[in-house]
Amino acid sequence: MISRRRILIGGGVAAAAAAGGAAISISGMGSMGEYDAASQALRAPLPNVPATRDIIRYATLAANGHNTQPWRFRISDGRIAIAPDFSKRTPVVDPDDHHLWASIGCAAENMSIAAAAHGRVGETRFDPAGEGAVIFDYVDATPIASPLYGAIPKRQSVRSEYSGAAVPIAGLQALAAAASIPGVDAVILTDRKALAQVRDLVIAGNTAQMNDPAFVQELKQWLRFNPRAAIRAGDGLFSACSGNPVLPDWIAPVLFGMAFTASAENAKYAKHLETSSGVAVFSGAKDDHDHWILAGRAAQRFQLQATAEGLKTAFVNQPAEVPSLRTELAALAGLPGRRPDIVLRFGYGPELPYSMRRAPVIDEVE
Ligand SMILES: Cc1cc2nc3c(=O)[nH]c(=O)nc-3n(C[C@H](O)[C@H](O)[C@H](O)COP(=O)(O)O)c2cc1C
Repeated sequence: MISRRRILIGGGVAAAAAAGGAAISISGMGSMGEYDAASQALRAPLPNVPATRDIIRYATLAANGHNTQPWRFRISDGRIAIAPDFSKRTPVVDPDDHHLWASIGCAAENMSIAAAAHGRVGETRFDPAGEGAVIFDYVDATPIASPLYGAIPKRQSVRSEYSGAAVPIAGLQALAAAASIPGVDAVILTDRKALAQVRDLVIAGNTAQMNDPAFVQELKQWLRFNPRAAIRAGDGLFSACSGNPVLPDWIAPVLFGMAFTASAENAKYAKHLETSSGVAVFSGAKDDHDHWILAGRAAQRFQLQATAEGLKTAFVNQPAEVPSLRTELAALAGLPGRRPDIVLRFGYGPELPYSMRRAPVIDEVE
């Protein structure tokens, strides 16, 4: 059940701010009903015999940095390739395109799980020399059922407080098993002392990022403040998906600037970590494109398994993004000397509105 309370409060803020004649802009925001219909249509179940484009739709439901969807697809006989779309880079937060490649890994994992569930079974590999892409080669075979498949349209990043309840051991073991991929370590931390250390690193990272005007400027480009803007763009970070108010475009930058402060964000992150059941740190054995993709695949599998168990997840990547914090995070995860790729928190939390996707670029090769 999606809570509307904060959204309604948001509408109130907007209405108050608009006193004096901006009713047209408010009515131009679109409705959450419209938004939910659009975001759920993207997540409609696949037909029994899906077209390759249907499988690609499920691939695009993967987590991806700032929801830029930095991918292009190419279909040929028995093959789907995912190539990077460098026009969707986020060079400030992700100067070496690490997250871009990890996002492609997340999409590749959704794709191979969805294809296998419908009898297209194959291997996913990185092909830097050829198409500079991730290649999924498949053959027709017996469908592979998996709880991860059913979780693809239900997974979402939930940036809210969680309940703080512990996950049963069997659940943690299932999370670890799902995330187990050769070439990637997934370390699950549930000890409160370790979680407090992660919290402090997230706050240090967030403070550094919020004090960087270029980071804030880049983030703003991907923020969508109302249903209409989010539907129209089909990408970016919609405020309601993070439990924040919806606002008309004309006032959003002003109100956002007032509310989006380092201290307010840090207080929020502290609560988020304190109410999480645990944190998972993903780190590839090597610091290269191949392993960034693998880390994305492992993280996507982790999120899907969590979703299947009724858990919510959210990225708290700041200590992996700010280079000076990586050494401490790696040591905390018991992986000294390694680059931490992805940090996810997990726990029991609410459902929030689902994020949008653009129609992907798909090339068909005869
Ligand atoms: C490599 C990577 C890094 C991410 N980093 C963050 C982050 O630091 N903070 C955050 O809130 N979300 C982060 N995200 C989550 C994306 O914003 C999210 O997946 C996207 O907006 C789509 O929303 P969804 O996950 O609900 O489908 C990251 C995702 C990926 C794949």
